[in-house]
Amino acid sequence: MTKTSSFSAPKGIPDYVPPGSAEFVAVRDGLLRAARLAGYGHIELPVFEDTGLFARGVGESTDVVTKEMYTFPDRGDRSVTLRPEGTAGVMRAVIEHGLDRGQLPVKVCYAGPFFRYERPQAGRYRQLQQVGIEAIGVDDPALDAEVIAIADAGFRGLGLDGFRLEVTSLGDETCRPQYRELLQDFLLGLPLDEETKRRAQLNPLRVLDDKRPEVREMTANAPLMIDHLSESAKAHFEQVLGHLEALGVPYVVNPRMVRGLDYYTKTTFEFVHDGLGAQSGIGGGGRYDGLMAELGGQPLSGIGFGLGVDRTMLALTAEGKSAGNPARCEVFGVPLGDAAKQRLVVVAAQLRAAGVRVDLAYGGRGVKGAMKAADRSGAKFTLVLGDRDLAENTVGLKDMATGDQRQIPLPEVVGVIRESLAG
Ligand code: HAM
Repeated sequence: MTKTSSFSAPKGIPDYVPPGSAEFVAVRDGLLRAARLAGYGHIELPVFEDTGLFARGVGESTDVVTKEMYTFPDRGDRSVTLRPEGTAGVMRAVIEHGLDRGQLPVKVCYAGPFFRYERPQAGRYRQLQQVGIEAIGVDDPALDAEVIAIADAGFRGLGLDGFRLEVTSLGDETCRPQYRELLQDFLLGLPLDEETKRRAQLNPLRVLDDKRPEVREMTANAPLMIDHLSESAKAHFEQVLGHLEALGVPYVVNPRMVRGLDYYTKTTFEFVHDGLGAQSGIGGGGRYDGLMAELGGQPLSGIGFGLGVDRTMLALTAEGKSAGNPARCEVFGVPLGDAAKQRLVVVAAQLRAAGVRVDLAYGGRGVKGAMKAADRSGAKFTLVLGDRDLAENTVGLKDMATGDQRQIPLPEVVGVIRESLAG
């Protein structure tokens, strides 16, 4: 009788187990490949931080801070929060370690779990996996384009093509306050319900993100930031678009884009996948030129992105594609008897030292069971070693695709297998 565990993973949190987890690793690493080629160094940060860092960094009026944070007192009664996103922590670390006093831009990348107490549904998890990059300290439209192009290359490198890049500009400190007032005046002149009016007062931009058709209709003619940019913000945005065109990165301008985090300024973007239903954002980011000063550092600019690893995996599935190799090994060893096992254990170690992925049939379960295990392992070749082979100093090499088996000299096994795998 099989016993089922009385425990299960917390609600809304996916496990990634073999063989599917090979895709998780391939997606996570693939999404950052272009970043590593562009000089972004790895940064590894705490999974929880002082609650105030996120409240200040992400924005007191955002859903993330007001409704979704995992916040609790530690045993020393300090309020800590499981990180809901990566940018605030990166800024904290850059300031704390004085990286902003060295060569600029500071370029870092990261990967790991983030935590948001959202209502779980397809593609929306309470522990979500992101990769991200941040480039801090240089306000150059070419850098904005680099960041966006790295995300685009990450998705395309995995074979995805059913997504679109939406970009806009959220203006800077010289034009945003005036626009905010303009939008607020417009919204407060509408027959909105009390709660939406309150939102219009607190964070008017968020009302543009209201999904209710009646609100959409009322705000269809709302003033848009992109029509009220300062000269310099406008020039910056146009240059970013020019770079994207030169780089061959396709985009559409979406002037109604609203991001869920408050730190964004100027260039802001999202990658949207059409095959995912409601949770269609596979990545997003933008400039955050006021964030470092807000967190007590120098007034340096910054830009970055976060890409959803879980959602990228769902997008691959939606496109009928996959990434990574779920095969556990390339070669599987089947020993027939104790002496053969002793020898095959050594052969496996030699093959592994030569960079070949090898697994063995352990536990003496008989030829049939061992051959089944070889089949399931996904190996391209199986080594079958019996007493007679040992006496003749040979081993059976079975090609799992064709079923052909031949005897090869045992001392030559590493060379023959490397050649066969390369061929
Ligand atoms: P974000 O748009 O909140 O940005 O998250 C980035 C990506 O994480 C989303 O596009 C989505 O793919 C994924 N994601 C977010 N929430 C969930 C969830 N509940 N379940 C599954 N996936 C999710 C940020 O976090 C910013 N820190 C990005 C950034 C970096 N901006 C500048 N630098």
